[in-house]
Amino acid sequence: MGLPSRKATCNSHGQDSSYFLGWQEYEKNPYDEVKNPKGIIQMGLAENQLSFDLLESWLAKNPDSAGFKRDGKSIFRELALFQDYHGLPAFKKALVDFMAEIRGNKVTFDPNHIILTAGATSANETLIFCLAEQGDAFLLPTPYYPGFDRDLKWRTEVEIVPIQCTSSNRFQITESALEEAYQQAQKKNLRVKGVLVTNPSNPLGTTMTRDELDLLINFITDKEIHLISDEIYSGTVFSSPAFVSIMEVLKDRNHENTEVWDRVHIVYSLSKDLGLPGFRVGAIYSNDPIVVAAATKMSSFGLVSSQTQYLLSAMLSDKKFTKEYISKNHRRLQKRQSKLVLGLEKAGISCLKSNAGLFCWVDMRHLLSSNTFEAEMELWKKIVYNVKLNISPGSSCHCTEPGWFRVCFANMSENTLKLAMQRLKLFVSSITINSQSHQEFKNSRRKARTNWVFRLSFQSFHDREQEER
Ligand SMILES: Cc1ncc(COP(=O)(O)O)c(C=O)c1O
Repeated sequence: MGLPSRKATCNSHGQDSSYFLGWQEYEKNPYDEVKNPKGIIQMGLAENQLSFDLLESWLAKNPDSAGFKRDGKSIFRELALFQDYHGLPAFKKALVDFMAEIRGNKVTFDPNHIILTAGATSANETLIFCLAEQGDAFLLPTPYYPGFDRDLKWRTEVEIVPIQCTSSNRFQITESALEEAYQQAQKKNLRVKGVLVTNPSNPLGTTMTRDELDLLINFITDKEIHLISDEIYSGTVFSSPAFVSIMEVLKDRNHENTEVWDRVHIVYSLSKDLGLPGFRVGAIYSNDPIVVAAATKMSSFGLVSSQTQYLLSAMLSDKKFTKEYISKNHRRLQKRQSKLVLGLEKAGISCLKSNAGLFCWVDMRHLLSSNTFEAEMELWKKIVYNVKLNISPGSSCHCTEPGWFRVCFANMSENTLKLAMQRLKLFVSSITINSQSHQEFKNSRRKARTNWVFRLSFQSFHDREQEER
């Protein structure tokens, strides 16, 4: 009696992942230029704060939209009362048009096929509830967004089986990796219901190639399973190759109104492209009327408030604004990404060449004390607690190779990024200096002590940081 449910107490939520632990550490000691200049800089949060001024300037020019007014008259009561339960038609139309615009109007979306949800988090879970049962599995390419363990598995009790991707081909999906994952699932007696991909990828910051997309369509056709394409970062593609939506591929291959057409579903949200995660606006787009009907019923548990829809339908219907926003946002993201890449380069660190997203996939394998996930954790802790940067270790994204980290660049000011890069550079050079002295020490004394490099390097890192200040 009085005990919480099994679900409430089970730990499959994934909140003990280093991805979330890093956030907790940041909360305890957040960097602030004036109030806490020695605090932790948050580089583990994929937020887009680069284009707020564009949104704010639109709001200033359109006070009615945020002020519960239409043509100067209050519509407070209309918005406060229950609206069309499953979304304002004007907003659904504005959202599908915005999705098409991001895809260069190469595809169009029907507002009758869209289901509004409280962010992509809710969209992904709702889709899994619609497509799979407890004991079924979805195949996901690694590395993947750490939140998927919570969103896809926790309440649905559906399993994730990894599609192992590696640095040898820039973490692209291969036919053999897909087949291998499928066999793995079968060995575990799991029924594979589909593949879920994130395009552009979180955490890689890359768009999927046409070959990969074709491969996926062939695979789901052959296995008669579903494909969920989480396209939450579709509006962040800042350089070539251009973004290709899975819908475009289906269209090009003349798959409209076929069985495969009904088995492909898109997840979208305004959390990244417009930088509005707090507004909780997400969507499922499906060609299957059964999925649309079921997801619509389920969306009652995570609707988008009517005043949010009202405000955003006005904003997204303003085509002059959306055009300018999309192009300026791209340019700003590109500039910021280059700053990060350059800063890392100066510290002797490289990253996967990216063309999208709010982060880079950074290669720190050379900084590991050994090629293990223990060494990755050891390095991560040093970076969080000593260097005071919260970045996300690859293991939290289920990467199979130790030493990769996701580093975000769009949730801070340019000065903060600069400081973060200075801290990192000092840290790396202190490791290098000390590993050289360590080598000399080893040569003279022929005595190895494993923790020595890091202990000395941090002492030296702090001393040098003090000197710089
Ligand atoms: C790939 C991916 N899907 C879904 C989400 C969740 O987004 P939302 O804030 O819209 O729930 C995120 C957030 O980081 C993400 O990266």
